[in-house]
Amino acid sequence: MASGVVLGIESSCDETGAGLVSDGRLLGHALASSMEEHARFGGVVPEIAARAHVEAVQPVIRQALDEAGLGFGDVGAVAVTTGPGLSGALQVGVAAAKSLAYSLGVPLHGVHHLAGHVAADMLEHGPLPDPCMVLIVSGGHTSLLLVRDLAGEPIVHLGDTLDDAAGECFDKVARVFGLPYPGGPAIDRAARDGDPASVSFPRPLTGPRDDPYAFSFSGLKTAAARWAEGIRGSGHALPVADGAAALQEAVADVLTRKAVAACRDHGVDTLVVVGGVAANSRVRALAEERCRTAGIALRVPPMRLCTDNGAMIAAVGDLLVRADAAPAPLDVSVDPSAP
Ligand code: KG4
Ligand code: ZN
Repeated sequence: MASGVVLGIESSCDETGAGLVSDGRLLGHALASSMEEHARFGGVVPEIAARAHVEAVQPVIRQALDEAGLGFGDVGAVAVTTGPGLSGALQVGVAAAKSLAYSLGVPLHGVHHLAGHVAADMLEHGPLPDPCMVLIVSGGHTSLLLVRDLAGEPIVHLGDTLDDAAGECFDKVARVFGLPYPGGPAIDRAARDGDPASVSFPRPLTGPRDDPYAFSFSGLKTAAARWAEGIRGSGHALPVADGAAALQEAVADVLTRKAVAACRDHGVDTLVVVGGVAANSRVRALAEERCRTAGIALRVPPMRLCTDNGAMIAAVGDLLVRADAAPAPLDVSVDPSAP
């Protein structure tokens, strides 16, 4: 069945996104970020994020429609992130989506934020092969999932982080290193001038007795903080570029090692790496190198679709519409801690 055009709205954290997708094709998208307003607090302030969404949501939807050369009358369904995410932030996107769906008389679909991250890749590379291994690495999640059909069959959850997410580790260590928020991109930039072998940071949960699909990044964060403290305590300037390169190497090593092993263990020949940390240059390069060696096809969304955006939510909405999924009721609520 043809889906018409699906409008996707994302507001789970600090990005307000709108995107338009039809039959797996991205027609236009727009983004506003309150990132700079959070920078001086060193992390996302939920109340500031929610207020920024209120201001941005309508202009961003309008901008996405303009980019696609479409009007509200072309929208055949509305999809919106219902969770996980910040409650107040999610409420803004969901309220906007409900009022649009109601006034346009079109179905509404609630979307899981992480399904959105996975679907981002489909906008660039087409339908996902069945099965595929998905590594989701963002500011809130680090998970390995065995996926068959994003809109249908249940996803097999192989492992998660036991503590911090990979992006959270980058964000927190960046703060200790004196780098700006958000820390992930700052670490990536600083690492360009550093030597990854200058410090040997631990590779958590990679021993023979460890859970092969579980992650842990809080010990790595502590190791990086101790390293910085030690150097500063001895009166020397912190070699930030070296620290950033070594940290990035440790994170990329653990992520790609476990993801490739999961593919091998389950006889899966496609690995999909998604989420904000998939934008990291070393994660991308090492994943490519290791997948090539292992004979695994690697799929990573383009950089602009790795971090939160509305196009990825529209992509899931488009799948749901095409799968004839039942729409959500107009009183659907947000689910900030959706599993
Ligand atoms: O997926 P995302 O936009 O939001 C969440 O759903 O969490 O991911 C944001 C995370 C942040 O922790 C940010 O520091 C990290 O992705 N990130 C990066 C890079 N770009 C974004 N981490 C490492 N290198 C990057 N280039
Ligand atoms: Zn995200």
